[in-house]
Amino acid sequence: MDKLFLVVVLVVGVAQVHGQGILFPRDSESRESKSLDGIWNFRQEPKGAVDLGLTEGWFNAPLEQSGEVENMPVPSSYQDLSNDRERRDYFGWVWYDREFWVSPQWTLADKRVFLRFGSVNYYAIVWVNGVRVTEHQGGHLPFQAELSLILNSNTANRITVAVNNTLTSSTVPQGFVRVKEGEQYPANHTIMSDNFDFFKYAGIHRSVLLYTTPRSYIDDITATPSVTGTTGTLTYNIATIVEGAGAETINVDLLDKEGTLVSSALTAIGTLVVPNAKLWWPYTMVREQNEAGYLYTLRVTD
Ligand SMILES: *[C@@H]1O[C@H](CO)[C@@H](O)[C@H](O)[C@H]1NC(C)=O
Ligand SMILES: *[C@@H]1O[C@H](CO)[C@@H](O)[C@H](O)[C@H]1NC(C)=O
Repeated sequence: MDKLFLVVVLVVGVAQVHGQGILFPRDSESRESKSLDGIWNFRQEPKGAVDLGLTEGWFNAPLEQSGEVENMPVPSSYQDLSNDRERRDYFGWVWYDREFWVSPQWTLADKRVFLRFGSVNYYAIVWVNGVRVTEHQGGHLPFQAELSLILNSNTANRITVAVNNTLTSSTVPQGFVRVKEGEQYPANHTIMSDNFDFFKYAGIHRSVLLYTTPRSYIDDITATPSVTGTTGTLTYNIATIVEGAGAETINVDLLDKEGTLVSSALTAIGTLVVPNAKLWWPYTMVREQNEAGYLYTLRVTD
């Protein structure tokens, strides 16, 4: 049994996600989340080192065992935490790690545990307890990995993240690494330049979360609102991951702002109809303050 809530706005479009859903984790009777935000250990590789940490396997042990670490808040841009020019201009790998504990409930066979990053700029490789669990390219979108078989509840777990901020002709935005020649530069002096007018902030830029789901769970919800006259419709598509045998049942309920059921269905794909739909308006465009920003809640239970 899994339950997910989604707040929906009638009229204003809701972003559509296809494939593996990365809905933001929210606690429910079937899901529990845990934040890994806070102070992590951090190390920047020496400039000019080529994949030093990967070659030396810095992910195999706590970073403080393979060299010096500093404190780094997550989420943040690591360039923002220093006024060091060398840090500001650095491009290449930086490393993060920290320890965390999970409850014994989390390692039971009826649960899955996912690790979710809101965004890491630009290229990330992630290990948990020395096991490579995922890598991701692109600094601006969430990604996740399942950790179910890797976690310990009787000892601390270690998460290690290697982040590379090198921009190339195939990244968004694009950047260029060039060798600077001339006697005013050291030998093989490289710089990264770009053609845009903002600073290339990098690091673990958004929250890091762990969350549980049941073995069978709701993976994704796509909901597309529309209005015809005074009638609102919500066309939805619910993706589930079902493990083992057993008929899949789905309850889809749409509740109004007061929590009253206004429409429901028992199918994974369908359309809910809301006669006399209350539409979302900004507060400057309604007569009564409490009519502004009206939201319905879509509740999905499987
Ligand atoms: C990591 O950084 C180095 C140094 O800029 C670069 O040569 C390499 O291509 C980068 N690797 C990735 C996966 O971004
Ligand atoms: C500069 O790069 C060349 C070619 O990769 C290498 O042979 C040389 O040792 C480098 N020099 C220094 C000072 O790193």
